[in-house]
Amino acid sequence: MSHREVREKVVEQVMPEESEGDSAQEMFSQVQEFVEEEFGKEAGLMGSTAKGTFMRGDKDLDIFVFFDESMEEEQLEEEGLEIGEAVFERFDGEYEVEYAEHPYTKGDIEDYEVEVVPAYRVDSGEDIKSSVDRTPFHKQWVNENLSEEEKEEVVLLKAFLRGQELYGSTLRVEGFAGYLCELLIAEYGSFEELLKAAVDWKEEEVIDPEGRHDKLPNYLKEKFSEDSLVVIDPVDEERNVASVLSTENYARFVFSAWAYLQEPGEEFFFPEEVEADREGLETAAETRGDFVTVEFETPDMIDDMLYPQMRRLLSRLELLLEDNEFRLFQSGFYIGEERTRILFELFSDELPGMRKHLGPKMFHNQEHVENFTDKYGEVWVEDTRLATVVERDHKTAENLLEGFLAGGLQEKGVPKNLVPVVEGAEIKGLEFDDEDWRKFLRDEFHLEVGQ
Ligand code: CTP
Ligand code: MG
Repeated sequence: MSHREVREKVVEQVMPEESEGDSAQEMFSQVQEFVEEEFGKEAGLMGSTAKGTFMRGDKDLDIFVFFDESMEEEQLEEEGLEIGEAVFERFDGEYEVEYAEHPYTKGDIEDYEVEVVPAYRVDSGEDIKSSVDRTPFHKQWVNENLSEEEKEEVVLLKAFLRGQELYGSTLRVEGFAGYLCELLIAEYGSFEELLKAAVDWKEEEVIDPEGRHDKLPNYLKEKFSEDSLVVIDPVDEERNVASVLSTENYARFVFSAWAYLQEPGEEFFFPEEVEADREGLETAAETRGDFVTVEFETPDMIDDMLYPQMRRLLSRLELLLEDNEFRLFQSGFYIGEERTRILFELFSDELPGMRKHLGPKMFHNQEHVENFTDKYGEVWVEDTRLATVVERDHKTAENLLEGFLAGGLQEKGVPKNLVPVVEGAEIKGLEFDDEDWRKFLRDEFHLEVGQ
């Protein structure tokens, strides 16, 4: 199929009906009127609903309530919550208070997911007092710079990224934010042109849609040094809109772009859901390494905290295994409803009973040579250092992990909030018990590749 054919089929399914936009506007107008009449405050509709870049079926209303720049933060928080609560009460919606830089209310009104966000009315995206203050400028920029056709391309791009599990700037996904999609389309003109450019992207790529910099100044190079893709925010030249995108997801996007251009297809947008077959996975596991699972109760934490901390814990345990001469084939974690698992695949989960122990260098170093020799007796010279053989403390990975988990976890570098659950961890082999877990084994652990 050609891209044009695919595009037509996908657009048919993901572009919203005109009535969706109208109903959202209608709902917003009611809230706006209420906020203005009851509180004398200006309200604005933000996000993709206000930009005409939302996907069919999205029911998000990001409603901002604007406060004067001179207002104290405390008062903004207090009044912001008061207004939010009043909105949900007036329109019979359930709501909760969520905590970002400032607390705000979020809930359901009719079938909309509504946020009432207090923000400062500031002069530009560079004079912000809190990060949400940039949002009105984003909306304005998108509406001034993207044509209707380009907005359709944005929706197409979002659908593609959703299909590739790369959509969203939460710390769980570490992918592409909606606003980032808008900027990429503004830069390249269309989805197809973006993909064509992406396959030639370098390891570090700087995109500056508004040409805010001739050349990135050193202090920004420094600031963005961890980021693979840098997309300068047209409304704030010191912000990288792609800062959440992980390096691996950046690479994945380039791979998806390449694969799509080789052979365009609807399946990139709507991947088929296939059950993960137990037998297939069991057979595949036979051909691979030894598996060790660390399993504990799923912590009660928001994703934006949990995912980064799990990544840190995984790295810590990988380091432990590698420092102790276990060789890793693959590793990963899975967060289920009730249980969380960290899975290691090792070349072997058992090592020889003895290990080599290296001592001091030979040159101009008599004191250390003497100490080492006294302590170990039989030694030899290997390359430039003394060497001997000693008994290994932990002969199996299970034993090593058990020793690690036995106590003092925080001092050993386990993220503080995870300590209570990790303390109760169990060590197991490889299970195939649950469908979702099996999907993890297949899709994230790539267990069946090569079969
Ligand atoms: N925003 C941002 N950078 C992010 C996330 C959000 O600048 N990483 C700002 C943008 O101004 C965005 C607004 O917050 O328009 C609302 O965020 P979100 O709902 O995530 O983005 P949308 O543009 O509404 O896209 P989506 O279709 O995914 O809802
Ligand atoms: Mg949104």
